[in-house]
Amino acid sequence: KPTNDFATRLLAWFDVSGRHDLPWQHPRTPYRVWLSEIMLQQTQVKTAAPYFERFVAALPTLRDLAAAPLDDVLALWSGLGYYARARNLHAAAKLCMEQHGGELPRDVEALKALPGVGRSTAAAIASQAWNDRHAILDGNVKRVMCRYHGVESFPGLPAIEKQLWELVDAYVADPALPDARMADYTQAQMDLGATLCTRSDPACVLCPLQSDCVALRDGRVQYLPRPRIS
Ligand code: ADE
Repeated sequence: KPTNDFATRLLAWFDVSGRHDLPWQHPRTPYRVWLSEIMLQQTQVKTAAPYFERFVAALPTLRDLAAAPLDDVLALWSGLGYYARARNLHAAAKLCMEQHGGELPRDVEALKALPGVGRSTAAAIASQAWNDRHAILDGNVKRVMCRYHGVESFPGLPAIEKQLWELVDAYVADPALPDARMADYTQAQMDLGATLCTRSDPACVLCPLQSDCVALRDGRVQYLPRPRIS
């Protein structure tokens, strides 16, 4: 059961300790947000940042990306790995030119229909680009939720994943979370998972959620989230 001030505490922490100077935040355009979310699917912020800067310098708009030869896009991706991401990005840009008037569609369902964009990525794009009210559930958020709620099952199981989506959907419906702060809210969740609630050696003493964390209370932090086999 969601606690009332989850969003409030998270946002207060984010204002002081979150990451506010990531390259895709300045300026935060839909194209830059989308590109960054695809890069960050399998790559850490520190690694992705210089690739992001080089990519948007070469291809500053969705139109430029759609018009570029695939080989140029793959060359800009070279070193990041998981090249299906670059192929999907290019295909999605062309699709946006043909079906969405040269822009990213401003709707999660249409975003999800783009190659390379799943439910959490679509929600991240919609919240980051337009402050739309959609919950994300990436690896970082799964880890935070498993610990905070003391989920003792592998979070990749379909039934557990469903339960986690219900939790994050409930938090995002909190009226204490202002519309205007949806981008900050999803960024705050990712920042908490990436900088405090890390896989190993999490900094619980600094965590804004420590007073309600089931895993911390029960001494289970280092054992959660559970691996696939245990
Ligand atoms: N991982 C996925 N999206 C991210 C973002 N916007 N900031 C930091 N890490 C992320």
